[in-house]
Amino acid sequence: MQRTIFVTTALPYSNGSFHIGHIMEYIQADIWVRSMRMHGHKVYFVSADDAHGAPIMLKAEAMGITPKELTDLYNKERPTYLNGFNIKFDHWHSTDSKENISLSHEIYKKLKEKNLIERRTIQQLYDPIKNMFLADRYIKGTCPRCKSDNQYGDSCEECGSTYNPNELINPYSTLTGATPLLRSSEHLFFKLSDSRCVNFLREWIRTKNINNKNKLQDEVVAKIREWLGKDEENSKLEDWDISRDEPYFGIEIPDFKGKYFYVWLDAPIGYLSSLKSYCALQGIDFEKLLNKNNSIEQVHFIGKDIIYFHTLFWPVMLNFSERKTPDSVYVHGFVTIDGEKMSKSRGTGISPLRYLDLGLNPEWLRYYFASKLNSKVEDIDINKNDFIVKVNSDLVGKYINIASRAAPFITKFFDGKLKFDENTEELINEIELKVDLVSNLFEEREYNKAIREIMGYANYTNQIFDNSRPWDILKKAKNIDPLATKNLHEICSATIARFKALSVMLSPILPKTARSIFLDFFKIEYPAKWQDALILPEKIESFKHMMSRVDEDIFSKLFDQNPEKKENMPIATNKEFINIEDFIKLELIVAKIIDCENVDQSDKLLRLTLDCGEKNYRNVFSGIKGHYKPNDIIGKLVILVSNLKPRKMRFGISEGMVLAASSTDGSSSKIYLIEPPNSAKPGTRIS
Ligand code: 2FM
Ligand code: ZN
Repeated sequence: MQRTIFVTTALPYSNGSFHIGHIMEYIQADIWVRSMRMHGHKVYFVSADDAHGAPIMLKAEAMGITPKELTDLYNKERPTYLNGFNIKFDHWHSTDSKENISLSHEIYKKLKEKNLIERRTIQQLYDPIKNMFLADRYIKGTCPRCKSDNQYGDSCEECGSTYNPNELINPYSTLTGATPLLRSSEHLFFKLSDSRCVNFLREWIRTKNINNKNKLQDEVVAKIREWLGKDEENSKLEDWDISRDEPYFGIEIPDFKGKYFYVWLDAPIGYLSSLKSYCALQGIDFEKLLNKNNSIEQVHFIGKDIIYFHTLFWPVMLNFSERKTPDSVYVHGFVTIDGEKMSKSRGTGISPLRYLDLGLNPEWLRYYFASKLNSKVEDIDINKNDFIVKVNSDLVGKYINIASRAAPFITKFFDGKLKFDENTEELINEIELKVDLVSNLFEEREYNKAIREIMGYANYTNQIFDNSRPWDILKKAKNIDPLATKNLHEICSATIARFKALSVMLSPILPKTARSIFLDFFKIEYPAKWQDALILPEKIESFKHMMSRVDEDIFSKLFDQNPEKKENMPIATNKEFINIEDFIKLELIVAKIIDCENVDQSDKLLRLTLDCGEKNYRNVFSGIKGHYKPNDIIGKLVILVSNLKPRKMRFGISEGMVLAASSTDGSSSKIYLIEPPNSAKPGTRIS
């Protein structure tokens, strides 16, 4: 029976390039989608930019562009990654779109009608330097639940709990380092703790999906049960703050002036918006397609860090707005490198773009990820040697090798034509059993098991080929032995038939390689269906190179921590380059020295009082004593790094750093304050 399936991957924020974790998720979903299409199912595979929220607003502001321009910037580079790794979405949209605004408004109205939205005045943390309420991600502090340090304002990466930012212990603003102030503001809350929601969720996780399968992985259900508590009275679910004060880049709340939906409200609605936009292009009735009475399946691939949003808020929002709820939420773990979490600052990540730039075959990475992926929420480790062994000995050494050994016999002696013995049933049955098993494993997302089966079959194919000693038979055949000739023809033909089946089974993982094997070697249609594996090939073209081995030296460069450190690079021969994202983290502003005095207890420091265009003056200690006399510099304009975390010194708190050039000539050193032109105004941003 043909199924209709709506598949999404998590929508990436549009303030950064894809990292290897995004690529892993897209590859996982892309393999699944291809494998489902091979059954003949209709799949709608969509994604979008998650374009709203404070980080995007602030980054755009820092770059001097609009948030829309920022999204466009990253949107332009998306195809390089997606095409580069043979990831094929049907459609890519944005949460900053007309579809998303109208769907968010609609869903909000329904939830309000159901009396699930409530206004409350809350005390919220406010950055007195930046003059804005702080988005959760801009407040850090100690987790109120597990007491881990350095956790963000909305959720803890250590224990997975979510909370209100003002529950954090010892909070600070990551924008300015200031201790945030508590101010009151009116917000909207979604009543997740309402017994209707809790009861719905209990039922939702307990009942099977449209295919009579579990909606969620066991580990995920266990986590949700923890969140839900044992019984209704003990439910630990808290109501959800869904509004944000201006300035905010998001969707305005229709009946609440100056307030916007929190990005996580409209982000998952972006799944629907992307499908809706695709439907419009295809002339499909979106509301009819995704109607809750329609038998379409809704499947979300996500990472383990966003389970809470996808398995609590999202199904509840959908259910109470009378929409279809997800049939499956497939959660994967993180990508680690040699067992370590990726970290940009430690240089332990690997860049997908660099992978492509090095000319590494994207299908190796797809194969490698597949060989590690299963249906559990486990982290996926990339290990250099393991990668090389898997690709070189399995993929090239076992699979491609089959064709490279058997095909020349067929093309050289039998004009490329295949011939099977009278009883082909056995061979077809053998293939059918394998294909059934493997295609099921793909559907269950047990890709590593599928690959084990496939490679087991490749081994078996190589073995029977070797055991039948084709080279010995060839000698006999050359002595004009018709039986030997027939034998040789049949052995090689069966081997090629198995190679075709292997190619079909690997095609969701290796779409490009499979494509050229089908089109150029077998001269059959691409993409293939699972059933095509059972059709014995009649003819082949001569064997041409299908896939090369990993070159260890080139592959090692991927793990090079300072890839930009190239011999012929100008200027920064020895240094690491930073990218624009690193640079714009620096907030440089014009400041005026209002007052200056010597710090008696220090040989180096002057105390500067700076007008930075803010309500209050700032106090900054600067190591320029001996180079400038206090009275000489009062009234000068300087450049201040204004978002440096305030530092407590023996003499007081220093709230930034003044830029100066310094040079050393023999034993004497000179320091020059960098002065903006006199016409510049205190507080003006420098970029
Ligand atoms: O965690 C993230 O990267 C979010 N942008 C994912 C959103 S998924 C969906 F809800 F849009
Ligand atoms: Zn915690």
